[in-house]
Amino acid sequence: MLCIVIMDSKIKELTQRLTDAGQPHLLQFYNELSPGEQAELLHDLQDMDFQEINSFFKNATATSSSSRHEKMDARMEPVPREVLGSVTRDRDHLKDWEVRGLQCIAQNKVAALLLAGGQGTRLGVSYPKGMYDVGLPSHKTLFQIQAERILKLQQLAEERHGSKCCIPWYIMTSGRTMEMTKDFFRKHNYFGLEKTNIIFFQQGMLPAMDYSGKIILESKGKLSMAPDGNGGLYRALGTQGILDDMQQRGIQFIHVYCVDNILVKVADPAFVGFCVQKGADCGAKVVEKTNPTEAVGVVCKVDGLYQVVEYSEITLATAEKRSADGRLMFNAGNVANHFFSFSFLRDVVQKHEPQLQHHVAQKKIPYVDAQGQLIKPDKPNGIKMEKFVFDIFQFAKTFVVYEVLREDEFSPLKNADTQDGKDTPTTARHALLSLHHRWVLNAGGHFIDENGRRVPAIPSAGAAGSVTDDGNGNLKDGTDLPIKCEISPLVSYGGEGLEDLVRGREFHPTLMLDENGTHELVKNGV
Ligand code: UTP
Repeated sequence: MLCIVIMDSKIKELTQRLTDAGQPHLLQFYNELSPGEQAELLHDLQDMDFQEINSFFKNATATSSSSRHEKMDARMEPVPREVLGSVTRDRDHLKDWEVRGLQCIAQNKVAALLLAGGQGTRLGVSYPKGMYDVGLPSHKTLFQIQAERILKLQQLAEERHGSKCCIPWYIMTSGRTMEMTKDFFRKHNYFGLEKTNIIFFQQGMLPAMDYSGKIILESKGKLSMAPDGNGGLYRALGTQGILDDMQQRGIQFIHVYCVDNILVKVADPAFVGFCVQKGADCGAKVVEKTNPTEAVGVVCKVDGLYQVVEYSEITLATAEKRSADGRLMFNAGNVANHFFSFSFLRDVVQKHEPQLQHHVAQKKIPYVDAQGQLIKPDKPNGIKMEKFVFDIFQFAKTFVVYEVLREDEFSPLKNADTQDGKDTPTTARHALLSLHHRWVLNAGGHFIDENGRRVPAIPSAGAAGSVTDDGNGNLKDGTDLPIKCEISPLVSYGGEGLEDLVRGREFHPTLMLDENGTHELVKNGV
């Protein structure tokens, strides 16, 4: 009896809050739900701050509808050379930067932070993207590849400095991916890393809203919820106690990156060393944008402050502008790969986070209509609100940019495989195989075809010894696809240390190099 009275007063109070916030429809179907569904809905609604959500909606939609386009071009300046480090143009400094970064790692000052809270809707799998196997000969998942890169980097820093060290790995998940991610790591024994040095935390979720600001129900008893963008990181760092954990561990530098880049150099010592040497509080790794119409955001200054400007925010004329050296003027392609000092991150979390605006993404969001019918719209009917990880550049006191080669460091997995698709499992797999092929060639190894002829370093279409994919990830002779060669991160982090293993040797593809040595897998599909 007492229970029912308490329940009644709870619903009354909730109904009042919902009415005040213009969201009373969320309880419209309450009486049709089973007791279990009712309890779940109440639980979901209980802790939500509807006034705050309404203000997010108001601000986000106001910003997105104000026309920024024409204004942006005139206010933009490219990244000045003095804040730019480049792996191609500053070759002489690379070694120094790497040494500096390894020293910071050896002193336990560096952490890696993985953004893995996305929904991976374009890829279309029901599990977290980090668990995806792109069909490498080893069938390693993205999580495993990254874990092994961390292991190897710890080992390299230890060898150089003679003391044991660790790179804590902070992994941001969302309500939708947390349990599956944790289970996966548990099942794989944390891929050889210390369990206590992998710290999972959860970003916030926000409801999807229709264009009038009403929260969307995805079923009669469930709100349509989505993670609040990779910039949800900053709020989560505070609410989930992650900053405190970093402070306790004495972390000073943090490398933040996305789960879907198969080539990512986790905690890249050269990038870290470059940023540290420049005294930077915030750094962005970029790849050169070479095609004016490529839909990639570029890092630049707007009204004197650094930010990422999306392709859609500038005119073609600006996108096509070139500098005296022939490169695009706005060519610092953002790949969401960042360096932050701990003190900068702390300031962002404690002072600046509330000022960050949500961006609006228009989406087709399945919803329950007023009659209780589930509708799957065929055109966008509402918005999701997201903050972006790079929205904080504006607060940096010393901002730097580090340019790397796309073919060495950036191949994101975004879409499911289709013929000629971009950023697919096939393109990710090929990017990694081709990088590892080049590592073997650079270390003095060679590949030969089944007739014993050396495969040319740059295969031409249809050339003997070049290969094609049979659709199952197996390569056959005939066209210009990469040689199948995979090197375990436990053997080499960035192409180093391979000479003793491959110099002067000839290999048949498929070649695998792991902790147990070199293996030529002659049978397709092994
Ligand atoms: P994307 O913007 O490509 O999104 O994320 P996604 O979720 O992977 O894929 P789609 O758009 O649903 O198809 C870039 C990076 O930011 C992370 C992702 O996990 C990925 O590493 N991310 C994205 C978050 O951590 N949280 C988010 O809310 C969104």
